[in-house]
Amino acid sequence: MSESQTFTPRHILVTGGAGFIGSAFVRLVLARYPDLRVTVLDKLTYAGNLANLAPVADDPHYRFVQGDVARREDVTAALRDCDALVNFAAETHVDRSILDAGAFVTTDVYGSLVLLEAVKKLGTPRALFVSTDEVYGDVEEGASVESDPFAPRSPYAASKAGGEMLVRAYHITHGLPVLVTRGSNTFGPYHYPEKLIPLMITNALDNQPLPVYGDGRQRRDWLYADDHAAGIDLVLRRGALGEAYNLGGGNERENIDVVQQILTLTHKPESLVCYVQDRPGHDRRYALDCAKAHELGWQPARLFEEALAETVRWYQQHEDWWRPLKSGAYAAYYQQQYESRFAKS
Ligand code: NAD
Ligand code: TYD
Repeated sequence: MSESQTFTPRHILVTGGAGFIGSAFVRLVLARYPDLRVTVLDKLTYAGNLANLAPVADDPHYRFVQGDVARREDVTAALRDCDALVNFAAETHVDRSILDAGAFVTTDVYGSLVLLEAVKKLGTPRALFVSTDEVYGDVEEGASVESDPFAPRSPYAASKAGGEMLVRAYHITHGLPVLVTRGSNTFGPYHYPEKLIPLMITNALDNQPLPVYGDGRQRRDWLYADDHAAGIDLVLRRGALGEAYNLGGGNERENIDVVQQILTLTHKPESLVCYVQDRPGHDRRYALDCAKAHELGWQPARLFEEALAETVRWYQQHEDWWRPLKSGAYAAYYQQQYESRFAKS
């Protein structure tokens, strides 16, 4: 679609930088590039947490602004001094999108539009939108390449696909200097305990049942958060404008295998596994062909088993981080999502 060029950002606006992968990106780039400035704009929804940014809180090159990507004033004010945007801001949990999809459309679709309009208005030199392998939908066999058509099947995936469609349209129609990454299922420290791996680790540590959907034989390709962040950094600097890049970990595993590994690592009994009613519209498998990102020079550095063991250790050593998250609104969500499933199992 357009030529490749190396780009060296001076000041990046990281939207959604208080979440799981966004904060990994912020920690990574501030450590890697001593002259780089980073501003985080984040609404601090249930998934946003300033504790994720505590390791960089005293860095003079880092600044936090609370705000909403779906509010033009918030975005324009934060983006004004920046020469790059990296957007992580999104509603991200498939199960929540099944319960109520409204916020997904507001943030993931309309929020993307507001960001694109701001990039257009301010002439921001580069903007990267973080997307997901879920836009390709269920992949029975083989692996998705970037030119494959979108076939999203959950409201979350549909919202991400909608945001991405706008990114592409703004590149073609308005010539905006945009990039997209489509990452696979990510895991690691600071992961909010509603997603498979941190939910299973924290439940196991508390001797609580582990709710496995359906037969547990769905397959996901797992990518360590720091590897995902490094891929996004590389695509921002070296990616060809207007292009999308798959970022997959190359670690395809059945859910039940991941859950069993967590039980082994936490020294908990198999009897904690509880097969529960499946997720409606549950995608059986995602798989990415990452040749394009590999050609750019990206490879995930971490082996899955080693990184999973390190992640389990992190949760064992950081109860102060996750215990407060599992009370209050989380407890209400957990009850709504799982109570009847456990009752029927
Ligand atoms: P997360 O849910 O941990 O964090 C999302 C962040 O966005 C939070 O800090 C939240 O406060 C913020 N946010 C939400 N709505 C906002 C709004 N309207 N304005 C400003 N900030 C807002 O998400 P994550 O897992 O870190 O995912 C980050 C991005 O990566 C998302 O775009 C997601 O679609 C994509 N992605 C995630 C995975 C994964 O496995 N977690 C895999 C591939 C792609
Ligand atoms: P999740 O972490 O929600 O990521 P995604 O749906 O975006 O891939 O789920 C990963 C897989 O784990 C998915 O196949 C659904 C399954 N799963 C369970 O079996 N039980 C659970 O409690 C959760 C949250 C997920």
